[in-house]
Amino acid sequence: MNAVFPGSFDPITNGHLDVLTRAAKIFEHVTVTVMHNARKQGQHLFTLDERLDILRAATAALPNVSVDSFGGLLVNYMVQQNKGIIVRGLRAVSDYEYELQIAHLNRQLGEVETVFIMAATRWSYVSSSMAREIASYGGDISTMVPSASAEALRRKFAAVEGRGQAQV
Ligand code: PNS
Repeated sequence: MNAVFPGSFDPITNGHLDVLTRAAKIFEHVTVTVMHNARKQGQHLFTLDERLDILRAATAALPNVSVDSFGGLLVNYMVQQNKGIIVRGLRAVSDYEYELQIAHLNRQLGEVETVFIMAATRWSYVSSSMAREIASYGGDISTMVPSASAEALRRKFAAVEGRGQAQV
């Protein structure tokens, strides 16, 4: 059985990587898919290509994981390409309500099943948005995100600072 691990990955965190690594032990193949929407492009720190590059570097050691992107409804991607099961991570109870709604909607829209993997407790407080926020102030995010994400965040905020603007 194959699986898809969808998300924004702006950028991938150690929590994502933990869930992905464990999913890769359960499923034959896992595709990490950056879901993107042209209208929401400005809402992300990293471009789609940057997020894909970071993901490729961060997942290079996982042989049954590949990286992809899709602009549209997740169910269309899952059903049209016969992708199998959706994997999502749960960090804390606060994630549950949102994830429950999406899982039910995806099942109603495309009869696609979602499997949840609980992120290890050591990553329960880590999120892409917090990593971006901390990195924007020059804080150390090296224990929260893979090195590819940490380097990309450092480069991004150095470039932003050089232009005299800060946008998280
Ligand atoms: O990393 P995120 O931002 O929590 O991921 C959310 C994501 C991208 C998985 C979700 O927003 C999504 O599936 N978007 C694609 C559009 C879609 O299918 N929306 C309807 C979900 S019911």
